[in-house]
Amino acid sequence: MGKIIAFTNQKGGVGKTTSTVNIGAGLAQEGHRVVLVDLDPQCNLTHGLGQRDLKLNVYGALLKEYPLKVYPLLHNLGLVAGSPTISSFEKVKGDELDREFLLKDLLEKLKERCDYILLDCPPALGLITLNAYACADLIYIPLEAQLYATDGLEKVLEMVGRVKRRVNPSLTVGGIFFTRFDTRKILLRETAETIREKYPDLVLTSRIRETIGLGEAPHLGKDIFSYAPTSAGAADYKALVQEILTTKDSIPHG
Ligand SMILES: Nc1ncnc2c1ncn2[C@@H]1O[C@H](COP(=O)(O)OP(=O)(O)OP(=O)(O)O)[C@@H](O)[C@H]1O
Ligand SMILES: [Mg+2]
Repeated sequence: MGKIIAFTNQKGGVGKTTSTVNIGAGLAQEGHRVVLVDLDPQCNLTHGLGQRDLKLNVYGALLKEYPLKVYPLLHNLGLVAGSPTISSFEKVKGDELDREFLLKDLLEKLKERCDYILLDCPPALGLITLNAYACADLIYIPLEAQLYATDGLEKVLEMVGRVKRRVNPSLTVGGIFFTRFDTRKILLRETAETIREKYPDLVLTSRIRETIGLGEAPHLGKDIFSYAPTSAGAADYKALVQEILTTKDSIPHG
């Protein structure tokens, strides 16, 4: 049975999509069967993998217009495409009794056929993100070590707590990791230390540096391992994948 991992932070531009793509590609390279799901109306995940003309997307499948479609990308790596129209999910489905479980139902069969399903969440804590939390085994929170980084973090952790109590008792925070990290900036280092002191059990050791390759790869429709396998970005995501793989078994899944 596959594990569902959501990458989430209500703050925008912190590296959710970049991490979903590259952790997914890294897991696939390790021999795991991985499916990426684009839950963001911006569709950065879909577009950043060079996919622009995919007709069947996650929103149509959620509305039961057609079955869930996984498009093969690379060996062991598939994509459930996003759609800008998923922004109307809340308006269309908000009054339904089982509104928070629609994604869970949709992914149930897929879970049996792969090792990891990675969810790229939008930068908001609305019904789409609630659906992601309701079906996830683990969530990871990418964080930019900035002055207001913890504001977003606390809101995410608060929502995780609520979802865990009422909707999905087995939801677990796999960890927080720093992205777009610039070791030359002392203020960033200090902010990262403060966050690490506040959440010692949650902050992972691996961190992702700000590098040109990671910014460029999506423009060429590639993950970092295909685009620049010997780059610092590839090394950072490889280390993070290893950390995720080694900590996941020690985490209770309920
Ligand atoms: N480590 C990095 N080094 C350089 N550029 C990066 C890095 N991580 C992310 N970026 C770039 O920063 C921008 C924001 O990253 P990304 O799209 O992954 O964030 P996000 O949290 O998914 O944003 P949103 O909230 O809008 O969905 C993108 O242009 C991405 O290519
Ligand atoms: Mg994104």
